[in-house]
Amino acid sequence: VQKTTELYRGKAKTVYNTTDDNLLVLHFRNDTSAFDGERIEQLDRKGMINNKFNYFIMQKLQAAGIPTQVEQLLSDDEVLVKKLKMIPVECVVRNFAAGSLVRRLGVTEGMALTPPTFELFLKNDALHDPMVNESLAVSFNWATEAQLAKMKQLTFKANEVLAALFDAAGMMLVDFKLEFGVFNGEIVLGDEFSPDGCRLWDKATRKKLDKDRFRQGLGGVVEAYEEVANRLGVKLD
Ligand code: C5P
Repeated sequence: VQKTTELYRGKAKTVYNTTDDNLLVLHFRNDTSAFDGERIEQLDRKGMINNKFNYFIMQKLQAAGIPTQVEQLLSDDEVLVKKLKMIPVECVVRNFAAGSLVRRLGVTEGMALTPPTFELFLKNDALHDPMVNESLAVSFNWATEAQLAKMKQLTFKANEVLAALFDAAGMMLVDFKLEFGVFNGEIVLGDEFSPDGCRLWDKATRKKLDKDRFRQGLGGVVEAYEEVANRLGVKLD
């Protein structure tokens, strides 16, 4: 399979067509964006770390019975994936309160959510990814009732698998975002899972080890991503 034309350039990844109509190449760039693309910086090694980290996590999820788009790791910063018809809705699960939930409801950061909570957001930078719900998603034909139920079920399943994985490595999986698409009529996990799209805190110190370091100007962003990868045993070099 050969990479051909550029299909889409996102904020952190570029998507390429390939000689196979059913496959795409994702290129993880060093670009790191926050506030819906208002701030973008280049962070050396981030593309490589996120690519390898994402591949590692997707394999764990696939092994747990969650269908993923990932086919093959191609290089330090590229992965071969199935071409999905993406559903423009982001699925978020939260185990602890942080980020927009804290701002919206005025609760204390770090408060445990038992059971974990599930939210949907519309993928739309211009509108700042507004929160939506299943009824809106169905009425606007972003997804069917059955697809949304499957996405929710798979997101909670991913939370079980990943919360345990990070816990065993001394980290709290605070929250994360997943995106799904359709391949041959089946709901399949797309996009990526990396410290760009989740919150991870050290269990003992609650030190932030994710993109909040970038959003909040805490520094040590790539160092934190590398620490997360190392703790999980992801091979980087
Ligand atoms: O900002 P908020 O608290 O709603 O984010 C919840 C989780 O979803 C965080 O882990 C954040 O990194 C992720 N997220 C994302 N992309 C977005 C919005 C949120 O990866 N566009």
